[in-house]
Amino acid sequence: MLADRAPTFRPDGAILRRSEALPAKPTRVCCVSLVMGVRSRIPGLLLFVLVVGAAVAACRQNDAPEAATALWDRVHAASFRTWRRAPGYEQRRSSNAPHSNDVDIYVNPTLAAALDAQRPLTAWPEGSLIVKEGFDGNEREIVAMMEKRADGWFWAEYDDDGEPLYSGKPDICTDCHASGADSVRAFGFPK
Ligand code: HEC
Repeated sequence: MLADRAPTFRPDGAILRRSEALPAKPTRVCCVSLVMGVRSRIPGLLLFVLVVGAAVAACRQNDAPEAATALWDRVHAASFRTWRRAPGYEQRRSSNAPHSNDVDIYVNPTLAAALDAQRPLTAWPEGSLIVKEGFDGNEREIVAMMEKRADGWFWAEYDDDGEPLYSGKPDICTDCHASGADSVRAFGFPK
């Protein structure tokens, strides 16, 4: 009998925090359209709740979490905070992206060399790697990375503990970054 009254525990806090870390606006648009389409055909509260859950999962493209974790390990082994800061980001400053207030942005030696060469570019060289840390006050909320590979940019966004939230080539990243210099938003090509 006692066991019947034992409290039920909610899923662990990390999972809840992770869903809160989503860049809210584009995700919501994507999920609402998915949910509305299915809901019009299958009414019912329970189904609706299940569909919302499935749609949120489907909308967060985390297609290559293992590759993202390998990238996280490599970037930390290389002590990314000792890399050069991105042009215009010589110290932490406010972000123009929706999901963090302040950012630190670092570029790896391959990208730094491309900037130093001061030759006009139309694309960043393979091996270029950029790491952005997003903060709310002093608390780090997310870490985002993009690495130029043979098949184009590999994208990853993590929570503070390095758990991948997005990975691969998520539309949410590529759409908003399409206006950048070969997808890079923080700074342009050398002139
Ligand atoms: C709604 C627009 C938007 C979305 C969505 C977005 N970004 Fe960004 N991102 C920016 C802007 C603007 C910057 C420039 C720096 C800043 O202001 O924070 C940036 C900067 C970055 C940088 C530093 C290099 C650069 O391009 O400037 C990385 C790395 C990055 N974003 C990764 C990601 C990843 C990974 C995703 C998907 C999970 C993503 N971004 C989604 C707008 C966006």
